[in-house]
Amino acid sequence: MKYKMNPEPPLPPHYMEVLIEEEELRIRVQDLAREVTENLGERDPIIVCVLKGAFVFVADLVRKLDFPFSVDFLRASSYGDSVVTSGEVKLDLDLQQSISNRHVLVVEDIVDTGLTVQYLKASLEARGPASISICSLLHKPANNVKLAPVDYCGFEIPNDFVVGYGLDWQGYYRNLPFIAQVHQT
Ligand code: IMP
Ligand code: MG
Repeated sequence: MKYKMNPEPPLPPHYMEVLIEEEELRIRVQDLAREVTENLGERDPIIVCVLKGAFVFVADLVRKLDFPFSVDFLRASSYGDSVVTSGEVKLDLDLQQSISNRHVLVVEDIVDTGLTVQYLKASLEARGPASISICSLLHKPANNVKLAPVDYCGFEIPNDFVVGYGLDWQGYYRNLPFIAQVHQT
């Protein structure tokens, strides 16, 4: 289904097509919450939201979890405003809590090249956690230059640029309740 925001954000000419409907997201998030509960439900984990893109996903996921855990945030950037990865990852904002001897669940919006997840995992592993697992709503397997260890994956998607449900294009479209493919025209 085609989608158009009205008024349109100030972006290059494009049109959008819905790839994953709101209802499909809701059902899959519930499945993921069940898997996470099975593995971490008795481990008092720290759930790490990777800003900014994962904020919508994390908000929905944590409300389906009914066991003790805390939430912390970090911000990694690899893209700037481009739609092509720069291959560089920076930690712009770090966690507030210590993760030493704690079970950590890193929640990402999307794993594309795998560079961000690989970098984050290495950087968090150095702090002596009891375990680290990775949860990503979306995964573009075609682009993995690094073997990205995704323990909980929502959807595998084609190698196209997508927005919505937290994911942005130059800061826009994070509010869409579905995932849409962007076609530049
Ligand atoms: P990676 O390091 O190449 O795996 O890239 C991961 C990051 O790039 C994600 O956390 C997103 O912020 C961003 N990204 C990758 N693909 C897309 C996309 O299709 N739409 C929006 N952001 C994306
Ligand atoms: Mg991200």
